[in-house]
This record gives sequence, structure tokens and C-alpha cells, in this order.
Amino acid sequence: MNEPAILPISYDPSGTMIHETGISQADLVWLAPRLVAARNEVLDDLALCQSGEPVPKEKGPLDAAFIDLPERMLEEHAAKGERSQLARIRAAADSLAERVEQVVVLGIGGSYMGARALFEACCHPYFNQLGRLQRGRRPRIFFEGNNLDNDAMSGLFDLLLGEGPHRWGIVPISKSGSTLETAVALRILLERLCSECDNDLTKVRDLIVPVTGLKSRLRALCTAMECPEMFPIPDGVGGRFSIFTAVGLLPAAIMGLDPIKLLEGAAVTNRRFCNSEPGDNPVLDYVGVCHLMESRRGATTRVLSTWGKGLEAVGLWYDQLLAESLGKDGQGALPLTCVNTRDLHSRGQQHQEGRRDKLITNLIVEHPKSELVAVKPSTLNQDQLNDLAGKSLPEILAAALAGTNRAYADDRRPTADLRLPRLDEHALGQLFQMFMLATVVEGRLIGINPYGQPGVEAYKRHMNEFLRGK
Ligand code: PA5
Repeated sequence: MNEPAILPISYDPSGTMIHETGISQADLVWLAPRLVAARNEVLDDLALCQSGEPVPKEKGPLDAAFIDLPERMLEEHAAKGERSQLARIRAAADSLAERVEQVVVLGIGGSYMGARALFEACCHPYFNQLGRLQRGRRPRIFFEGNNLDNDAMSGLFDLLLGEGPHRWGIVPISKSGSTLETAVALRILLERLCSECDNDLTKVRDLIVPVTGLKSRLRALCTAMECPEMFPIPDGVGGRFSIFTAVGLLPAAIMGLDPIKLLEGAAVTNRRFCNSEPGDNPVLDYVGVCHLMESRRGATTRVLSTWGKGLEAVGLWYDQLLAESLGKDGQGALPLTCVNTRDLHSRGQQHQEGRRDKLITNLIVEHPKSELVAVKPSTLNQDQLNDLAGKSLPEILAAALAGTNRAYADDRRPTADLRLPRLDEHALGQLFQMFMLATVVEGRLIGINPYGQPGVEAYKRHMNEFLRGK
């Protein structure tokens, strides 16, 4: 039997085609050759990464190896089966999930935001509050190592230590292995775990599954502890582009998600990106619209308006991707995630009538995962909702979206719609890859190296000086 086809995500920028405040089809046609040139440069970057030849100075750092990672992982899985990295990730995830009740994922920035996005989008909205059976026998998931917050860490102790000995594990994720937030959190939690395990390292190491770069302090630490399983973050794949390495796939598998479906989704985006012309290519069309809105209409704020609660962390993952990649040399649009309808009651006023410096991209899920919940008729009609009886929450949400788009259009405020068929691994795989490709294409289009984050180093340096007096 054939596998069901993967439903594609879609991008519709027709709400940006507005005279004077938006763009036109002719603008997009004009930009098309430059978009194609930027795509070619991105694909040349990948070829250079694969060639193993030295990277010219003006191109460095060059972390383009994320592009074909989904296909490489899937091919290796098809060829090597149980010996493939994908199978090892799943086996390590299943083994940890069987043994522990809670897993703390440690990481910051690109080393945790993708996992968190997957958790919020694909798992049950109250996953951690459910019993083990309802969680599909998967552990509760917590995220730490992404701050230096005493009360948050101490609150985590209360949760973990209440669970009884050996019932929790740690997945420390850091490519460099020296990011202080993550390293300090690991040191603190390790000490707790050790004391729970009577300082028996043979027990402790079975509860830790690290993901780290090939030459990192974290690798050295976990090698010294003889951790039985450890996953690499390959050279040529930068932190915020690493969601399809073990950085995203291991936590996803621990949560019970299917890493293969994520990779299959990403591969669909790759095919569309490489083979379709502008006008029928979501990556290039998205970049074209964002770039024209910024350069011609001063839309320096890019609002990602997510509809429904599950996509907030996806938006935050994208905020980081765009901000850290293109916010350089005095350039780079400001990404801003909204969750609607919640934020219509906080930011809506400004987006409707404030400064005309925004492009709004709606991120919409077409079908909910669970059974429809609807308004019922009631003898208590003081709230006057009987005329909505029979309407489901998705129908009411769709009306809010249509109403918001109409209100923006009436005021000549441009909007575009990005649609996901469902909030699942196939759709998110497509979306993550689309955003990563769009970010590097835009970088090449505007002459900014999207890889690396030289600006972040300054705070790290000064923090270390203050702490260590060096
Ligand atoms: O995108 C990036 O490279 C950064 O956001 C990193 O992921 C973040 O700084 C964490 O770095 P590391 O994985 O080395 O701890």
C-alpha cells in the first residue's frame, strides 16, 4: 500500500497586493531573477560545504550543511536501518522514556528552541499534567539551562526530587559545550543526580544523553563519565539551523514524536525550493514579499501572527532564527510573534492603527487535531450566544481571522497567509525548513552572512570577565 501523500503547506501573499502601502505582482516579477540568484548562491554554499574545500574568508562562517541534512538522514536510515543515526536516536529516546518519569532538556537559543516548539505544537497542550498512560508512556519534559534564574532552578528541584530516586534524566544540548547557562545548569543538576544515585557514576551516566559538537567540553565531560550514548552536532550545521540533527530529533523522539515524519516534511520543502519557479515557490515568494515590503514600504517589523495556542514557541524559534541570522551590520527586520486571538486584545490596536512599519504574516492551522468543540444552545441565553449554537471553536477562530484580515485590508495594511494543513510532524518539518531556507536566501539577497552570531560573543566575554576576573 502506498503511503498517504504529505499535504503541502501553502503561502498566499494576495493580502499584500495593495496600492501605495503594499506591493504588486509586477514588483515580484521584477525581483524574481534576484531571488533565483540568491537561491543559486545558497545551493552553491551547500556544494562548497560538501566539497570539503576551504571556505573563502568572505563566506565564513558557512553553516549551509543543514540544507540537505533531512535527505541525508533519511537515506542513511534507509541504507543502514538499525545502525543509522536516526535509529540510534529513537532507541536512546525510547530507552530513556521507559526508565524515567521526567526529562530535563538543557540548552539555550538554537540548542533548545526547536525542541520546545515541537513540544508545544505537537504534544498534548497539557502534556506534563497528564498521567503516564495518557502521555503515551513518555516522560514529562522540562526545559532549563536557558537562563540563570535561581527560583526557576529551585522550583525544578522540587519537581524532580519529589519523583523518587533515578526517576529523572538529563539531555544536555550544546554545540560549543561551553555556553555558561547550559554548563552551569548541568553542573548543578548533575550534582543532584549524583547524590540521588549515591554518587554511583554507573547509574548516573545511564540517565544522561548528551548532544554536542565534536570537540566540546561537554563531550569531554560525558566521555569522562562514560555516558553510553552521545549524539553529535555535525560541523557545518549552526545552532539555530540544527533542529533536524539530534538537537531537535532526540527530544522530539523522547516526547513520542516521529522524527522521520519531520525529516520527510523538510524534504518536501527542499524539493519545492529547488525545483519551483518564483510565484510557485513558498520559500522564494515569502522572501520576495518580506524583502519588498521592507525595502519599498519600510515594513521593518515582521509580525508572525499565529492563530491558536500551539504555535507560540514555533514563532519564538523563528524570532531567534531571523534575529540572530540577519540582525547584523545595521540591517535585519524585527521579528515579532503574536498569538491570536489572545494578542488582538493586547497588540491589535497598534497593528490596526499604529505606525505603518509592519508586515503581518498569519500562521494558520487548517484542521484541529481533536474532536470539534462547539457552542451549544442553552435556556440561559442572557449571554445571547444561542445564535452561535452549532458553531465550533475553529469556525469562530476562522471568523476572527477573516475579520482581522478584512479590517487590515480596509485600512490598507498588508497581510499574507501561511497555512499548515495540521499541527503535526509533516507540516512542521516543512515549515521549519521553509523558514531556515528563507532566512539564508534573504541573507544572500541583502548581502548579509546569515550564519554565525558575532554580536552575541561580546556579552559572553564580558560576563566571563566579571565572573572570573579575566
Ligand atoms: O544559533 C546559534 O548558534 C545560537 O543560538 C546557539 O544555538 C546558542 O548560543 C547555544 O550555543 P551552544 O549550542 O554552543 O550552547
